[in-house]
Amino acid sequence: MSKCLLIFLTFTCGMLYFTSVTLPNYSGNYMNHSNASFTNQLLPTYQMESTHFFPHLPIQIYTANRQKFLQLKNPRKQIILLANSFFGDPQWEIPSLKNRTNSGNMSEIFCAFLNNHCEITNDMDRFHEADAVVYHAVDMINRSDEKLRTRRQSQRFVFALWESPKHYHEYDAYDKFFNWSMTYRLDSHIVTPYYTQYGYRSKDYKIPIEEKFDSQPKHVLFKNINPTQKLGTAAALISNCDVTINKRLEIIKDLEKYIDVTIYGRCGQPCPNSTAHDRNACRAYLAERYYFLLAFENSVCEDYVTEKLFATLLLPIVPVVYGGANYTRYVPESAFIDTRKFPSAKELSQRLIQIRNNITLYQEYFRWKENIIWDGFTNFFTPFCDLCLRLHLDNTSNIIGNINRWWTKDQCT
Ligand SMILES: *[C@@H]1O[C@H](CO)[C@@H](O)[C@H](O)[C@H]1NC(C)=O
Ligand SMILES: *[C@@H]1O[C@H](CO)[C@@H](O)[C@H](O)[C@H]1NC(C)=O
Ligand SMILES: *[C@@H]1O[C@H](CO)[C@@H](O)[C@H](O)[C@H]1NC(C)=O
Ligand SMILES: *[C@@H]1O[C@H](CO)[C@@H](O)[C@H](O)[C@H]1NC(C)=O
Ligand SMILES: *[C@@H]1O[C@H](CO)[C@@H](O)[C@H](O)[C@H]1NC(C)=O
Ligand SMILES: *[C@@H]1O[C@H](CO)[C@@H](O)[C@H](O)[C@H]1NC(C)=O
Ligand SMILES: *[C@@H]1O[C@H](CO)[C@@H](O)[C@H](O)[C@H]1NC(C)=O
Ligand SMILES: *[C@@H]1O[C@H](CO)[C@@H](O)[C@H](O)[C@H]1NC(C)=O
Ligand SMILES: *[C@@H]1O[C@H](CO)[C@@H](O)[C@H](O)[C@H]1NC(C)=O
Ligand SMILES: *[C@@H]1O[C@H](CO)[C@@H](O)[C@H](O)[C@H]1NC(C)=O
Ligand SMILES: *[C@@H]1O[C@H](CO)[C@@H](O)[C@H](O)[C@H]1NC(C)=O
Repeated sequence: MSKCLLIFLTFTCGMLYFTSVTLPNYSGNYMNHSNASFTNQLLPTYQMESTHFFPHLPIQIYTANRQKFLQLKNPRKQIILLANSFFGDPQWEIPSLKNRTNSGNMSEIFCAFLNNHCEITNDMDRFHEADAVVYHAVDMINRSDEKLRTRRQSQRFVFALWESPKHYHEYDAYDKFFNWSMTYRLDSHIVTPYYTQYGYRSKDYKIPIEEKFDSQPKHVLFKNINPTQKLGTAAALISNCDVTINKRLEIIKDLEKYIDVTIYGRCGQPCPNSTAHDRNACRAYLAERYYFLLAFENSVCEDYVTEKLFATLLLPIVPVVYGGANYTRYVPESAFIDTRKFPSAKELSQRLIQIRNNITLYQEYFRWKENIIWDGFTNFFTPFCDLCLRLHLDNTSNIIGNINRWWTKDQCT
């Protein structure tokens, strides 16, 4: 089980059908804002596009109405109630919620363009007003709270979770409790992918959010790195040494027969002192010294791809991934090496050696970045923008019959 340290824009985290539910089809219905003008005051018009593009955007909603203009017509602010805590924090890291009777505005969760459309609160006294009642499924949910008995039909109870089902899966008691899911899974009502931390977009995508951002690429292009400084072939940063969780360490052991692999973190060498408490700093240290970073997920589950990959993409090192996601849904195939594409550690090692020994080939793994900008406009909680939009746009009712089944069945290997 993992504990997250969440600070706006700097995120270090060791973490993380059958039902009566009709979940929206995942078909790449990404919002295309390019023909909409956005101001804080004006109601935006959204164009739904069935085409999708790299990189996927953090703001995405799913509706059956493809290629249709949608408008936020409802003048009433939708109220989002954070009904329990986030890893013990009743404030969910949102500054103004420190005082429970205050409400937060959407700029605080990086959705300034929705300031007039939603309000966020953690005040349970406002339960009856709330349009969405969000529960972080890791923290305690007080089912005996009297207020729940007078739940309104129109309220959406939201199951919010960033962890994989390998960690938390006791949701048997929640049949017909939730209306919407909000997880990293692409078939969730609101998708909370880990890349919301590491906002990247194609160069021609216009940011709808009135936030300060730097449009210069923050990542390192290959021309800025010097592979001759690299000391070793591969490194891994691992804090959970439990071999029973998955085959991660087993694969590394096999790779070690053919190439040098250095493990850092709790299961290996400590990260150097100055980076010991900052995984991103440690990753940056490794990126200078190795050709490949083994971005192996601790859970091999559908769609589960974490900052292990997304944080690595910012650095002058090539990620070697292992996990249950279809990675090409998140980044171009030329950005990473997928362990599962190789029949054995031997073949994978041979490929890594080939790439390591050929600068031109190594360089090709960074070329996709020429069209991508990282700008830091995003945040771990950006999916709340989607929640707000959905409260305005989706008036259909939905009951998640068996959340436990949806969450766990056939998800992990
Ligand atoms: C999902 O997509 C499939 C194939 O395109 C289609 O047959 C099905 O009706 C869709 N379901 C919903 C709920 O839209
Ligand atoms: C977004 O929509 C505009 C206008 O319809 C279109 O020209 C553009 O190609 C679309 N962009 C993407 C990335 O789909
Ligand atoms: C963009 O929006 C304007 C105003 O709604 C419309 O006239 C124009 O045709 C749109 N352009 C595209 C490419 O959809
Ligand atoms: C919380 O905010 C309310 C309304 O703004 C104010 O009346 C109250 O004094 C504040 N409480 C604290 C402890 O700051
Ligand atoms: C939103 O909240 C922040 C923090 O409380 C505040 O600084 C900002 O002025 C507010 N913005 C709007 C538009 O209300
Ligand atoms: C749950 O809610 C009930 C009723 O509001 C309250 O009495 C009880 O203290 C709450 N339990 C916890 C653990 O917060
Ligand atoms: C790291 O810190 C420890 C304890 O403070 C110290 O003993 C050690 O020498 C330091 N290592 C380096 C490489 O600075
Ligand atoms: C993975 O995703 C890509 C891009 O969305 C798609 O073309 C491909 O068919 C998917 N592969 C699998 C095995 O689902
Ligand atoms: C190095 O890789 C490039 C790009 O794939 C290839 O064209 C070239 O032949 C390779 N060089 C050697 C010596 O294998
Ligand atoms: C949802 O909104 C649409 C368009 O405003 C309306 O036609 C439909 O009846 C509404 N459905 C429900 C269940 O309220
Ligand atoms: C939400 O779920 C509850 C409990 O199953 C149900 O009574 C209610 O009608 C649902 N509301 C909406 C808007 O889907």
